[in-house]
Amino acid sequence: MKSQYYSSNKTPLRRPPQQQSGGTSTTKVVVISAAILILLVKIFLLPYGRQYPAIRLPEGCDLSKGEWVPDPEGPYYTNNTCFTIQEHQNCLKYGRPDLDFLKWRWKPDGCDLPRFDPAWFLHLVRGKSLAFVGDSLARNQMQSLMCLLSSVERPKDLSTSKDENFKRMYYPAHRFTISIFWSPFLVKALLADSDGPNHTGLWSLYLDEVDDKWASQLHKFDFVIISDGNWFTRPSLFYEKKKLVGCHYCLIDNVTDLTLHYSHRMAFRTALAAISALEGFRGKVFVRSISPSHFEGGEWNKGGNCKRRRPYRSNETKLEALDLEYYKQQLEEFQAVAKEGTRMRLLDTTQAMLLRPDGHPSRYGHSIHESVAMYNDCVHWCLPGPIDLWNQLLFLLLGEGDEQ
Ligand SMILES: *[C@@H]1O[C@H](CO)[C@@H](O)[C@H](O)[C@H]1NC(C)=O
Ligand SMILES: *[C@@H]1O[C@H](CO)[C@@H](O)[C@H](O)[C@H]1NC(C)=O
Ligand SMILES: *[C@@H]1O[C@H](CO)[C@@H](O)[C@H](O)[C@H]1NC(C)=O
Ligand SMILES: *[C@@H]1O[C@H](CO)[C@@H](O)[C@H](O)[C@H]1NC(C)=O
Repeated sequence: MKSQYYSSNKTPLRRPPQQQSGGTSTTKVVVISAAILILLVKIFLLPYGRQYPAIRLPEGCDLSKGEWVPDPEGPYYTNNTCFTIQEHQNCLKYGRPDLDFLKWRWKPDGCDLPRFDPAWFLHLVRGKSLAFVGDSLARNQMQSLMCLLSSVERPKDLSTSKDENFKRMYYPAHRFTISIFWSPFLVKALLADSDGPNHTGLWSLYLDEVDDKWASQLHKFDFVIISDGNWFTRPSLFYEKKKLVGCHYCLIDNVTDLTLHYSHRMAFRTALAAISALEGFRGKVFVRSISPSHFEGGEWNKGGNCKRRRPYRSNETKLEALDLEYYKQQLEEFQAVAKEGTRMRLLDTTQAMLLRPDGHPSRYGHSIHESVAMYNDCVHWCLPGPIDLWNQLLFLLLGEGDEQ
């Protein structure tokens, strides 16, 4: 399973091959003076920065499998220390009574994870840019990251539009940028009918055309975290080579229902192919696998809720139905492009999140005095909450193998 985290191309990240020098006396003098210079620069800079070792996880440490174990250290931040929590995920503010869900840490089989270190993370991304691409869970992860970093630096909002879905946040002290691109299907998608067969809209999905809103910007980023999943359940029409080839729950005569399995696989394939075809792109791409929801006692719009107050143990539940299907599709499509030597890594958080039915906002994503009918949210994750793990893993993968 280890290979899921490491693309087939296992080159160390920086570290060009050592040049063999000829060994004449002039080169020796040059080398010695260079060494003295480097030493001086290092001594001069010493008070400005901690030295960071490479993060090395022990052999046999599979981040994707393990158990949640009690963590007396508790959360990294609260609703009082982080100001960028979106209301709907601000479970502390909206009175979630049990705070035990904050006192767990992910313990992979065979190793212990180092804690997220905000100063170290910012050191790793100094002068770089990171983009999230996906749906509201991508935004959930971005807000988690900003909260995790907030004890060291708060970003400036440099977004060019008011649209929450296309934000650009800048950390001046570290010259670090976080951007988000809303693209729930990853491919080109147009709303064909805002009502549609189930009043959730009918979408036209161009399954073989990547969504240019993110794809055209990709080359500007050093790190990209891409994910999908939740939107493919919506009724949609499928286009390939600009022709209608089928649909999912469109209820139109003569249009074959190819099901939502088809559209998810094809769109995901198109997105990964677009990334690997991008010429000269040197960024690192993390493909974040599906995040299971936990409705019990009904579907999301039929009274379903998530009321558990403890994580599952791994022997108490397993991935099934649509989540399992999408997860498998993601692994298969990921492995197909990883084989071609692309610098893509899987951020496989699915099993860890499957075990956290207790980590969703449920009804604590809004004030109980709000009169609007709100569904119980068993899809997104409370902040702070188990989703902070995604960024803890991101931190490890960024720091791994790099001597700082
Ligand atoms: C944080 O949550 C507490 C309840 O746990 C609430 O009293 C407080 O007002 C919240 N703070 C902010 C800034 O929302
Ligand atoms: C649409 O609504 C029908 C009836 O409520 C339901 O059976 C079906 O699963 C829904 N389909 C989708 C794609 O939401
Ligand atoms: C479906 O196909 C039949 C036979 O080819 C045709 O008569 C009918 O108009 C078509 N319906 C639609 C909605 O295209
Ligand atoms: C799961 O494993 C734990 C610890 O090994 C054990 O105590 C528990 O009985 C198991 N539960 C089930 C449902 O098998």
